[in-house]
Amino acid sequence: MQKRLLIVSNRLPISIEKNNEGYSFRQSSGGLISAVGAYLKGQGAKVFSEKLWAGVPDCGEDIWGLASLNHTGADYDFLPVFTSTGDYEDYYNGFSNSVLWPLFHYFPSLADYRPDFFEAYQRVNQQFAEKLSQVIHEGDTVWIHDYHLMMLPGLLRKKIPGITIAFFLHIPFPSAELFRVIPRAWQKALLEGMLGADLIGFHTAEYVSHFLKSLQLSIGLEHEGEYIAHQHREIKADAFPVSIDFSLFNSAHRSKEVSAAKDKYLAIKGDKKMIFSVDRLDYTKGIFNRLRAFEHFLTTNPAYIGKIVFIMVVVPSRHSIFQYSERKKKIDEFIGRLNSTMGTISWQPVIYQYDHLGFHDLLGLYMACDVALVTPLRDGMNLVAKEFVASRNDKMGVLILSEMAGAAFELTESLLINPNDVLEMAEMLCVALEMDPVEQGQRLSVMRERIERYDVNAWALDFFTQLSRIKERQKKFDIR
Ligand code: G6P
Repeated sequence: MQKRLLIVSNRLPISIEKNNEGYSFRQSSGGLISAVGAYLKGQGAKVFSEKLWAGVPDCGEDIWGLASLNHTGADYDFLPVFTSTGDYEDYYNGFSNSVLWPLFHYFPSLADYRPDFFEAYQRVNQQFAEKLSQVIHEGDTVWIHDYHLMMLPGLLRKKIPGITIAFFLHIPFPSAELFRVIPRAWQKALLEGMLGADLIGFHTAEYVSHFLKSLQLSIGLEHEGEYIAHQHREIKADAFPVSIDFSLFNSAHRSKEVSAAKDKYLAIKGDKKMIFSVDRLDYTKGIFNRLRAFEHFLTTNPAYIGKIVFIMVVVPSRHSIFQYSERKKKIDEFIGRLNSTMGTISWQPVIYQYDHLGFHDLLGLYMACDVALVTPLRDGMNLVAKEFVASRNDKMGVLILSEMAGAAFELTESLLINPNDVLEMAEMLCVALEMDPVEQGQRLSVMRERIERYDVNAWALDFFTQLSRIKERQKKFDIR
């Protein structure tokens, strides 16, 4: 049995909410938490004798102390990392979400290259390194996740040179031309930070090649295939498309709670067709274009007036950043206008919820809808697309998927669209709504098999297998 696994991410997998009885916990949102959380719960993670998840709690130390005591039943322990409010603000809302996030998702005009943001990012990465170095033992595997902590592998390597470190990026790695828009010293710090890892994982082969090209262009570092020689070590960069717990979604129809939720949504649907979408509120998710496409669809297909409903769930996210709060207002206005101009007293075209969605309701909606619309302008992977496919054990339903999502490389039997093409999206809605059930079943079956084969456990196994291989290669590798 392997020793300890330390998972490190900015956010811990639980969010704490205060209520009348004390504190309650809900799973934090986002693909990272769903995937890594699912892996840790499964059989695959049993190869590690102990698991620890380090991250910044979404509350202060005092509340964490009280609240975490009530949280039992997790498959791992927590290692909270506390930072000052000011540092966290500039590291999370600032450098992570107002520089790296927009730039890596191809929204360079939204990036704000403030030096104080970068300084806070360095400080918080350093705090993580310090906290981790206090608990790391020889033989531990440290698996660092996502764009908030790109410098951490390098900082940790300096402190404990012999340790096994893996890094996985859950968002796209942009083209080298875009990456070099960042100030030069920051490019170097980010890339050299990532190179502290032994294995660097991305969702797609494109992101790997962008990263390798950036090494050449930004810091003049060459590579041989996926192998990089840096500071007397060999490092590997490779693609591992993140996945889901297929069996959980595939068997969800057997759960009483899920069936009840499905019946609740089928009652709302009645004899109408139902479209469903769910995303965090984010400008990368293409929510406006999707709404515009739906409006265009209704205008050009009046036969569907009164005979279709679009259930749109938007999960609150990063609301203290202007681009997010501003978007919320605009979405509210758009839906209000659409419902009031096209709807009637007895029919609302869009049913909109701005809130978190529990697992049973999410599954109920996946199963009750006719069409799932997953249309981000840019997305590292997008697990909603995979979850929808896996939950359709009845082999009915159509997935319309943006070709700008990493998932489009695997889910090629979906109806692929360009999310900037509102007219194409509206046409594809017609195709989806009129697709014959046999074709729906054929398309879903191929995608379901693919996800089942490469589920979250296969993803992690693939990752850890490559990690042990590179550690083996390093023993033979001496470039001094
Ligand atoms: C994306 C990121 C995750 C992040 C999640 C939710 O999936 O890749 O790292 O946790 O969004 O965003 P938040 O800012 O709420 O953590």
